[in-house]
Amino acid sequence: MSTWPRFKTHHYSNPSLGVSLDISRIPFPDTFIASMEAPMQSAFKDMAALEKGAIANPDEARMVGHYWLRTPNLAATEELGIEITKTLESIIDFAAQVHSGEIAGPKGKFTEVLVIGIGGSALGPQFVAQALGHKRKDKMHMHFFDNTDPDGFDTVLESLSHKLDKTLVVVISKSGSTPETRNGQIEATHAFKAAGLDYSSHFVAITGVNSKLDQLATKEGWLARFPMWDWVGGRTSEFSAVGLIPAALQGIDIMSMLGGAASMDAVTRKSITQENPAALMALMWYFATNGKGSKDMVVLPYKDRLLLFSRYLQQLVMESLGKELDLEGKVVNQGISVYGNKGSTDQHAYVQQLREGVNNFFMTFIEVLKDRDGSSIEVEPGVTAGDFLQGFLLGTRQALSEKNRSSITVTLNDISPYSIGALIALYERVVGLYASLIGVNAYHQPGVEAGKKAATGILAIKPQLMAALNANSGKPLTVELLAQSIGADPEICFKILERLAYNKLITKQASSPWYNSTYTV
Ligand code: PA5
Repeated sequence: MSTWPRFKTHHYSNPSLGVSLDISRIPFPDTFIASMEAPMQSAFKDMAALEKGAIANPDEARMVGHYWLRTPNLAATEELGIEITKTLESIIDFAAQVHSGEIAGPKGKFTEVLVIGIGGSALGPQFVAQALGHKRKDKMHMHFFDNTDPDGFDTVLESLSHKLDKTLVVVISKSGSTPETRNGQIEATHAFKAAGLDYSSHFVAITGVNSKLDQLATKEGWLARFPMWDWVGGRTSEFSAVGLIPAALQGIDIMSMLGGAASMDAVTRKSITQENPAALMALMWYFATNGKGSKDMVVLPYKDRLLLFSRYLQQLVMESLGKELDLEGKVVNQGISVYGNKGSTDQHAYVQQLREGVNNFFMTFIEVLKDRDGSSIEVEPGVTAGDFLQGFLLGTRQALSEKNRSSITVTLNDISPYSIGALIALYERVVGLYASLIGVNAYHQPGVEAGKKAATGILAIKPQLMAALNANSGKPLTVELLAQSIGADPEICFKILERLAYNKLITKQASSPWYNSTYTV
């Protein structure tokens, strides 16, 4: 049967935004969109209230203002609008002065940027840097610490080893107390000191006013400080200083990125469902997952530059929607799982299962019309590499449909600051609308906090183990004895002791059975 009539009905296109959306391959019945009109209108109302400054994040008693970052004149108060504009001006000035060398390190002009952050304080900057970077055209080279892996720090520092004196370090943490980021900052500081450099004249902080990081940067007289406001969530902070400072330093046109986001907002703010691509997409998520996350979302951009988009989206969607309780406090265990890398590469990895295996997903294809700057050679008579890329996208889409696998296709004209701004804004709005449809708070992250608390408890065990070993210096002790002596879980003690022994901080004598092995200092 021809798919064309359904495609014609359900193909949304906005030429001025350079974005189209095809929802025809989600098998919703003709009555579905109309049947969801009442909840959709209520989601629009929630979103309008949020944009006007309602406390849309009730658990943290906060406003949710990321939309104001690209349209400051719509901010909840005039003061906030002025603050956003002033900060944007200071970001542009700062980047220009770094590029001109007016702001430089003690040893000259900065050429490298090391961004230190995690989660919402890293994923957006990393995605944008990769999507919009041009090795030869970039004004500065980007590097990232986004974990507390010692070997990861070393790998990045190795690539900076002869350029540390030309490196600007941007430490990003809204709370100013995230351990991974704090550790990265301490490791970077150590590397600067070891190289005989005055780190404070290389370091910049982006953080909440008066946070621990802010206090440290003030005390040590860092090169600059930029604010991160409590009404901007980490995963929606790309258009605050968090995303704009790294992008501006790299030489990306941040005004165009903000323009793309503002134009998408103008379109997706409309309360006519059929004319609103974010609303249509939220409804498709709802239909495809039964409003309960019953299917995973596979995101497959056919463009290398969008490789990190699915990772970025994974956080935006899963941290926002993955909630135990709804807004009324009822246990709902909501969410949608997101994964994906890029096409056609993934066709040679897991697409086999998607077509023929368990049907537990819906696909989002992302198509980009522009092949490349300049013209393409032919790889076969009359055929270019770009023809192949599109062929693989359309072929996979068709092959999935034949097996009743659903898909959405988002089409962008090109990859540019404008289109990336628009794409991020589109998904931010979809997440917001979908959260209203399923009644969850998209703007808090209690699960992340729980993980942080649990890690703190575990970290306290190592010093206790070391104290117990030191108090019995030279005496071999089993894990069970050690755990008992400090009143800790033997399984956790075992894991810690094994790592300490492997790193030669303590000595292990292996024994049989394995749990009778002993440890000494
Ligand atoms: O989106 C979020 O809120 C989180 O992923 C945070 O961005 C992440 O935990 C890092 O927090 P912070 O910016 O406070 O260091």
